[in-house]
Amino acid sequence: MVFGANDVAEPLGPRGDAPQPQVFMPKISYISHEGTRYEVEAEIGTTVMENAVKNLVPGIEAECGGACSCATCHVYVDEAWVAATGEPEPMEEDMLDFAADPRPTSRLSCQIKVNGDLDGLVVHIPARQA
Ligand code: FES
Repeated sequence: MVFGANDVAEPLGPRGDAPQPQVFMPKISYISHEGTRYEVEAEIGTTVMENAVKNLVPGIEAECGGACSCATCHVYVDEAWVAATGEPEPMEEDMLDFAADPRPTSRLSCQIKVNGDLDGLVVHIPARQA
């Protein structure tokens, strides 16, 4: 094969096979109540809770597994991200009544779906869960 001036050689995959397509993974930062930052890359369509659990971010318990029935995935959405994450649905709003120390920016992280607009999202983990 002859390469021209405009051809770009793509790197081979990890085992020398065809290159893997680059998948965009939005970054999410979880800030503990002590100030420790945990940054993870999240798959689009998953939830903020699932990415915390998968990456062993401490402080997100998620006892109900994302069924919106435990409030142990409670987070405070950073002020800069409140509009992008949207408002809680009525069922989530009801469950937030059971969260420890709820605030105006409180959300259940199992109800926040990751999408491309959330690249850079910052959430703060409360000192304790419900
Ligand atoms: Fe139980 Fe979110 S994981 S309410």
